[in-house]
Amino acid sequence: MTFRIAPSILSANFAKLGEEVANVIASGADWIHFDVMDNHYVPNLTIGPLVCEAIRPCTTAPIDVHLMVKPVDRIVPDFAKAGANIITFHPEASEHIDRTLGLIRDSGCQAGLVFNPATPLNWMDHVMDKLDMVLVMSVNPGFGGQSFIPGALDKLREARAKIDAYTARTGRQILLEVDGGVKVDNIAAVARAGADTFVAGSAVFGAGKDTDPQRYNSVLADLRTALAGI
Ligand code: DX5
Ligand code: ZN
Repeated sequence: MTFRIAPSILSANFAKLGEEVANVIASGADWIHFDVMDNHYVPNLTIGPLVCEAIRPCTTAPIDVHLMVKPVDRIVPDFAKAGANIITFHPEASEHIDRTLGLIRDSGCQAGLVFNPATPLNWMDHVMDKLDMVLVMSVNPGFGGQSFIPGALDKLREARAKIDAYTARTGRQILLEVDGGVKVDNIAAVARAGADTFVAGSAVFGAGKDTDPQRYNSVLADLRTALAGI
């Protein structure tokens, strides 16, 4: 199993965002998780395509755009043009889920659905062929720094079973990402439940002293060590 760590820049120092992106990748992260909130679908307002475009030259790592916006479709091509690699959205926020997945893929990005704690996984059943990733939320979306909701572990197991059955039938891989409250002390349990891609915001960007360019090395090494024990 290959594990990917995707630090959420929501918890980074926004005054130095380009440096933060470069540092966290240099410290061993795999992806950049980019949280887009619209003060409508979720009660917070963050960053959009302009910021994605601004950080794109700071790294060659994939940018994983998590859209917490409603409606979804209008903004998809803007993120594709801004250099996003993966775009995920919440099924409740789109009137036509199959169409939105197609739009993301036609824009040249990988596509995924995001499941809130109370959202049933069966939304994915009829669109598996258009999914590159499934994202299980382990907090209610809107803010960094919340506590991991334990019920997400059963949900991950259920999602893993659906994905494995699909892969056995078709040979096609779908990634399983988890987002919210992931830390050094729970990442192993989350991986055992079936996740292969881990968003971590406050756990990564809260680590170390602001003046040390290597400050993310040790927390990323600790996350990897916990995963190595699986
Ligand atoms: C929550 C966001 C998450 C969040 C993760 O709505 O989607 O990506 O920033 O932050 P932590 O790891 O601090 O829970
Ligand atoms: Zn997120």
